[in-house]
Amino acid sequence: MTDEELRVSKIENGTVIDHIPGSQALNVLAILGIDGTGGETVSIGMNVPSDRLGRKDVVKVEDRELSQSEVDVLSLIAPAATINIIRGFEVVEKHRVERPETVTGVLQCSNKHCITAEDEPVDSRFEVLDDGVRCVYCDSITRENIAAELLI
Ligand code: CTP
Ligand code: ZN
Repeated sequence: MTDEELRVSKIENGTVIDHIPGSQALNVLAILGIDGTGGETVSIGMNVPSDRLGRKDVVKVEDRELSQSEVDVLSLIAPAATINIIRGFEVVEKHRVERPETVTGVLQCSNKHCITAEDEPVDSRFEVLDDGVRCVYCDSITRENIAAELLI
């Protein structure tokens, strides 16, 4: 049994998002639109010791699976995350998130002179880099704290 399992109990059905960078769990919940008012049962481990990441966060959402677009956005702030689908207490599916080539409409450009920041009907669009995102309109690159640019 790992340290993490001692801290947060197993779930019967739902999704475990594992190997989230330490301190990003609340941003993951924001991406999933979970603020508690929906009544979901959610367990969170924050800054749990991890061999691979040093410290990691873990989010367990019961009776819920994630959409591909949620996973795409998640991959921006948690590139090493593992999505585990749990049924009857067993891990029936496990996959690493994959980073999409571009994301449209989910991040705002931090350049206040960018056309997407004006009152124009232009959806933001970013090319996903290994270490950040690049606005396709003004070429601004965001590497740190991508979560702060989330539009959702
Ligand atoms: N888990 C859970 N409830 C279950 C089964 C698993 O909450 N009924 C959680 C585990 O605590 C772990 C994750 O789902 O955080 C993946 O489980 P498992 O594949 O058994 O763990 P590991 O082998 O450690 O995963 P990995 O190799 O991806 O690190
Ligand atoms: Zn821009």
